[in-house]
Amino acid sequence: MDSDERFERQQGDVNTTPNRQKYWERNLAGQARHWFEKDNQYFLHQSLSTPVINVLAKAHGIYIEDLNGRKYIDMHGNGIHNAGFNNPEVIQAVKRQLDEEMTFCPRRYTNIPAITLAQKLAAITPGELCRCLFCPGGSEAIEMAVALAKLVTGRFKTISFWDSYHGTTLGAAGIGGEEHFSGGLGPMIPGAFHVEFPNYYRNPWGFTTRDEVDAECLRQIELVLQRAPEMAAIVGEPISAKPAVPTRRYWTGVQQLCERYGALLVFDEIIEGFGRTGKMFASEHYVTPDVLVLGKALGGGLVPFAGIVTKEKYNVCRHRSIGHYTHEKNALCAAAALAEIEYIEKNRLHEHAARLGEYTLRRLNAMKDDHPLIGDVTGVGLHIGIDLVKDRQTKQRAVDEAEMLMFKCLEKGLAFKTIEGNVITLRPALVIEQQEMDRSLDILEESIAEVERDRRY
Ligand SMILES: Cc1ncc(COP(=O)(O)O)c(C=O)c1O
Repeated sequence: MDSDERFERQQGDVNTTPNRQKYWERNLAGQARHWFEKDNQYFLHQSLSTPVINVLAKAHGIYIEDLNGRKYIDMHGNGIHNAGFNNPEVIQAVKRQLDEEMTFCPRRYTNIPAITLAQKLAAITPGELCRCLFCPGGSEAIEMAVALAKLVTGRFKTISFWDSYHGTTLGAAGIGGEEHFSGGLGPMIPGAFHVEFPNYYRNPWGFTTRDEVDAECLRQIELVLQRAPEMAAIVGEPISAKPAVPTRRYWTGVQQLCERYGALLVFDEIIEGFGRTGKMFASEHYVTPDVLVLGKALGGGLVPFAGIVTKEKYNVCRHRSIGHYTHEKNALCAAAALAEIEYIEKNRLHEHAARLGEYTLRRLNAMKDDHPLIGDVTGVGLHIGIDLVKDRQTKQRAVDEAEMLMFKCLEKGLAFKTIEGNVITLRPALVIEQQEMDRSLDILEESIAEVERDRRY
């Protein structure tokens, strides 16, 4: 893959390829074609969303359903579907809140659902995290976290990771390490440094052990801390979106560097929070950050909602407003969030994700023995990635094959997205049962065999 293509497909599959065209020709007819064309006509085009793949009529549980009534197990869900799409208990809670006529809450007032949610998050997030601030979306929440770190430290620089995504607002895109979101926009926020995330399968130095990769990644962070002193924060996802799963030693090392150099540690758990990785929060696999950023599933899969949770000692910016958002204490969003959290807790979905994740990884690793297209399988809980390669020795990314696989699976009822061009990501709703996972893996394996045989869609 040339470098432009790698950057273009860093975040996911794009809509400009011949295979995408073929998918539309084969799958969009009648009403679906009609509404697809209308969407095409009225939305601003962008490579990861418009033109779209298909038009949906419904989303429920682990499924999305198109206008032709075809159902797909959705292993992407944009990360909002932890309790399943349109979870009936979350819907009931939202309806109750609507009936109570306390939905929007004007700024400078508060309401019981918002307070209850903040109290709940203080109770369930790790360590001394106890102070919340909410906003409509994850990108804004990342910016609130960075603004807080700046005000706490009196500094402005940040370190984050290449290939990471933290949102699409200019500030969040500057923190993120994907050229796709910052290219062509001129200078981004000043002082945003990037380093390599510990990727044990694809490290750029040719190291063969985790110890070596961890040591080099930590050395690079310390180098930046020394050469660009006065760092406000280190911002990262505890586990990358791919997912590359670091060791506990790595994040402990990063936290020690933060303490030594006076920077705050910010964890973006917008995807990984709320049970996805087999624990309620991915931080619990590692260390408690100074600021935890939440989003996506926080809105119950129904409404946009995000926020930060931080420590009492950082409750220090009372003369500023870093989260001056219209919906910062929206009661309807808070009711959805509370219902989502209650559902996850009541059904122990995080524990289910841990168990089913282990089972899925075992099956995928067994598949790897039979299929040379699979270079590597990584993940924890129901946050899983399959790195497809043209050749296991060179690890050349199998970008075209990943796209073929995606469309073949889609036609058989399994939806997912790719990342970095060649990595298949599996992030189903946490309510998925083992037999549904088995069906998904059967579709995947059958399609992998077809791609290996024909190399075409
Ligand atoms: C890890 C991560 N951080 C931040 C964001 C941005 O969240 P939002 O789209 O709600 O602004 C996303 C969204 O995909 C994300 O995956």
